[in-house]
Amino acid sequence: MKLLSDTLDRVKPSPTIAVTNKAQELKAAGHDVIGLGAGEPDFDTPQHIKDAAVVAIAMGKTKYTAVDGIKELKEAVCAKFKRDNKLSYEPNQVSVSSGGKQILYNALMATLNEGDEVVIPAPYWVSYPDMVLLVGGTPVIAQASVQTNYKLTADQLEAAITPNTKWFIFNSPSNPTGAGYTWDELKELTDVLMRHPHVWVMSDDMYEFLAYDGFKFCTPAEVEPRLYDRTLTTNGVSKAYAMTGWRIGYAAGPAELIAAMRKVQSQSTSNPCTISQWAAVEALNGQHDFIADNNEIFVRRRNLVVDMLNAAEGISCPVPEGAFYVYPSISGVIGKTSAGGTKIENDEIFANALLEETGVAVVFGAAFGLSPNFRVSYATSDEALKEACARIQTFCASMTD
Ligand SMILES: Cc1ncc(COP(=O)(O)O)c(C=O)c1O
Repeated sequence: MKLLSDTLDRVKPSPTIAVTNKAQELKAAGHDVIGLGAGEPDFDTPQHIKDAAVVAIAMGKTKYTAVDGIKELKEAVCAKFKRDNKLSYEPNQVSVSSGGKQILYNALMATLNEGDEVVIPAPYWVSYPDMVLLVGGTPVIAQASVQTNYKLTADQLEAAITPNTKWFIFNSPSNPTGAGYTWDELKELTDVLMRHPHVWVMSDDMYEFLAYDGFKFCTPAEVEPRLYDRTLTTNGVSKAYAMTGWRIGYAAGPAELIAAMRKVQSQSTSNPCTISQWAAVEALNGQHDFIADNNEIFVRRRNLVVDMLNAAEGISCPVPEGAFYVYPSISGVIGKTSAGGTKIENDEIFANALLEETGVAVVFGAAFGLSPNFRVSYATSDEALKEACARIQTFCASMTD
């Protein structure tokens, strides 16, 4: 009997983690490497949130809690949805997990049967298709294009839906493109969903607060209230509050779905870290001024990166509305040969050659389902970004036909 399960053959390890590992290996071997692969803010968790965790420890709040979150955090989540998204939920409609990733996994695990399809717009966050495969569902990729700044159109969504579609996963602002849907753009998609009442909506709002240039965030159940009964709105404290390591994500939706997700969690991980939950209560209920300060830094970095990448030969980079990623197209360098002698046949070869010849680590577009592109995370210092983009410019300028 073989050791490993057949399920494991269906999924691949995260390509973003693979890039980070390769960059670390090269660094350890003494190479001058600049990593633009990380999916987390370089800021520290705000002090008042850390203090709340210290108080929780001092007060002995260190035991098991209710499986899907303490009452205080569920109430804070309800208040957040009301305040920011005009959505009304009761605590029994709220689930708290060890990160946004576990929330999504629980929801898919709790609902997918063999043959059930999940429509995922590409470019997508790397984990969506593999999570669907892991729990036995079928990912159906709906390709967006650079012409619409990587946003899915109504026709593209309509074409992807079949009688077997169970979920549509929506993510705005997006990882990997940073693209954010306006109210009108999202309304076009929710109009399609209204014509298909068997399709549920999983909205991944993880980058809600990382939006720039006055972009107004909106979420499907807010834009089309008639979707409320078949929408799971997910979010978390990881990105906006610089709390990636604390592992707290949350969601709100129909009580029956939330109860099913609780059942999955009760037989896998039980409650998310108690101390982190108390820190998350402070994050959601406490002051939020630091988000605007952080966003000022992010927008400056975004502009720097977009300008420098657009100045690189053969690269074209749209200006995204949010998150901390840009997703430039490299169609202008495909077929050329790098100074180190590598023929750039696709974006994976481009990213490998870039790392080996210049020490800049980025994630290739095929990992996110749309090529030829690469993803840059600009959640790092201005100096590192300037140096990395200058190296990318030199790398492209020295290519030959
Ligand atoms: C779009 C998106 N959703 C969810 C997550 C998961 O966040 P967490 O770290 O809270 O599990 C990420 C993290 O990279 C993400 O980019």
